[in-house]
Amino acid sequence: MPNAGSGITDALVSALRRARSVAVLTGSGVSAESGVPTFRDAQTGLWARYEPQELATPEAFERDPGLVWEWYEWRRDLVRAAKPNPGHRALTELERRVPSFSLATQNVDGLHRRAGSESVLELHGNIMRSKCSVEGMEAEPREGDESVPPLCPGCGGFLRPDVVWFGEALPEDAFAAASGAARGCDVFLSAGTSSLVYPAASLPYEAARSGALLVEINPDDTPLTQHADHALRGRAGEVLPALVAALGEA
Ligand code: APR
Repeated sequence: MPNAGSGITDALVSALRRARSVAVLTGSGVSAESGVPTFRDAQTGLWARYEPQELATPEAFERDPGLVWEWYEWRRDLVRAAKPNPGHRALTELERRVPSFSLATQNVDGLHRRAGSESVLELHGNIMRSKCSVEGMEAEPREGDESVPPLCPGCGGFLRPDVVWFGEALPEDAFAAASGAARGCDVFLSAGTSSLVYPAASLPYEAARSGALLVEINPDDTPLTQHADHALRGRAGEVLPALVAALGEA
């Protein structure tokens, strides 16, 4: 057994070596080791008394757009300071080795791209971009705009982060591509996600229904764990590099 500690078995390694197509879904646990707190982690400092689930909604923005914008500014600062970790890098290496590879992420921090991953599908948008809350299209604040939130240079409406809030639809193209990859893959990896937030959480089940081997990487149990063929216990920054290393030299 290459690495019995985290549950990486010979059977899993040979399935991954044989795989023509691999699809991956990541969640905020993959960025935890880069210092970006997961959504369900307790918040610290000034934001400790707010629940993220109460800030990341269209209703919260309507009620108090300044508060929601400031919260995202705080998270943007965390993301700016963060660097990709060995888990992100292991996925770029896996992409290089597998004939067909797709990486769908619920993370809005852009760390997979910064690590060098190419086929990234951002299911929940990107925190570094803004869009007009009225017109919906991407827009950035005018230089020198000090209002909070800043205003759309086109229509004067509030700008908001270009992320998907609770209750909002996912970008159709990205989700359709992720769903196609899930249905067409031989191995599906679900890493660092609580598997609670739909529709992203449906992707591993789509893959399993189409016959894929289902692998979960998470230190804790999730609703997906009992459906996984392999539940690798541990942190993504340790388990993913161990998994890729077990594949041996390309
Ligand atoms: N490695 C792997 N998994 C980890 C690690 C780690 N180092 N640290 C924490 N985890 C796991 C936790 O056990 C948990 O299951 O990551 C998961 C994080 O769960 P959530 O905070 O719910 O994040 P995620 O699944 O990405 O949430 C989905 O919901 O909050 C919205 O839009 C937001 O994209 C987010 C979506």
